[in-house]
Amino acid sequence: MPIQTPVMRLLGIEQPILLAPMGMVSGGALAAAVSHAGGLGILGGGYGDGAWLTRECDAAGNAPIGIGFITWSLAKQPQLLDQALERAPRCIFLSFGDLRPFAPKVAAAGIPLIAQVQSVAQAREAVDHGASIIVAQGSEAGGHGAGRSTLPLVPAVVDALGDVPVVAAGGIADGRGLAAALMLGAQAVLCGSLFYASTEALAHPNAKKTLTAASGDHTLRSSVFDIARGYDWPQPWNMRTLDNDFSRRWADDTDGLKASITSESARFAAARDAGDFTTAVVIAGEAADLIREIRPAAQIVADMVAEAEALLAKPPYYQR
Ligand SMILES: Cc1cc2nc3c(=O)[nH]c(=O)nc-3n(C[C@H](O)[C@H](O)[C@H](O)COP(=O)(O)O)c2cc1C
Repeated sequence: MPIQTPVMRLLGIEQPILLAPMGMVSGGALAAAVSHAGGLGILGGGYGDGAWLTRECDAAGNAPIGIGFITWSLAKQPQLLDQALERAPRCIFLSFGDLRPFAPKVAAAGIPLIAQVQSVAQAREAVDHGASIIVAQGSEAGGHGAGRSTLPLVPAVVDALGDVPVVAAGGIADGRGLAAALMLGAQAVLCGSLFYASTEALAHPNAKKTLTAASGDHTLRSSVFDIARGYDWPQPWNMRTLDNDFSRRWADDTDGLKASITSESARFAAARDAGDFTTAVVIAGEAADLIREIRPAAQIVADMVAEAEALLAKPPYYQR
């Protein structure tokens, strides 16, 4: 039986998988590939860069894609929302900040506003502020997030929101995770780390390779890489990444890092340019163990759905 949920009808998609808007990693080619495979590709507008947005929207061609931004950063250059809406996206996706300045324009465009949240209280607030779909993101997720875990957070948000569709995110990277998320009451999943290791992702090839060899045992949530990159993130969010020499040196001494920031940020940037991920950051979550090869996005979508449908038809405890 193919999986069918109300949010899939709302978004006009055939598979219950959304590509996370990974800043500068989810480009046009990846978003288009996920949408062409039946999911919803969402462009990772991140902190906001008009030239990048134009280039990657062009790269997506006519594929029906959404566009995502980091909300507190979009507030510094709100014209980027107009630029995004001119491209007639399938949805606008906002995480990490106040939706109110942006919700009316998205509503006027007649498209869903998807809000990613990290708590039940944030979920209620996002709906009050105009979100029509909520992504409940657990702490297992790669990238920025907060403290609650996916397994209890998703059903709590489902219970709190009634008819508002909920999408699960954080630690979902195969058909088992998709099937489990549906059991929790989510109507689709949003995956980031899994697609970081896709052929089309704009991540450095060495970073993708590092992820496919990594374990979720070796990730951390910290602000160490934000400090190195010069981003001043508001509370309560910090970032889950793979650990490496740089995080082992500085994660427990961020004051020391700030004191040496000129030389350390230069060293970090040089490593990133050289593709040296013993110092530069690989942004990925606890699902790292489940990500063992670099595959085309269409194959990732097809494999995940096939595995979930098989499990839902015949759960593993019947297979003994
Ligand atoms: C490399 C990377 C970059 C990310 N950048 C963003 C971002 O710019 N905006 C955003 O809303 N979420 C971002 N996220 C978080 C995702 O939206 C999503 O919550 C997360 O990837 C889900 O967990 P998973 O990585 O276990 O699939 C990022 C995640 C990763 C892995």
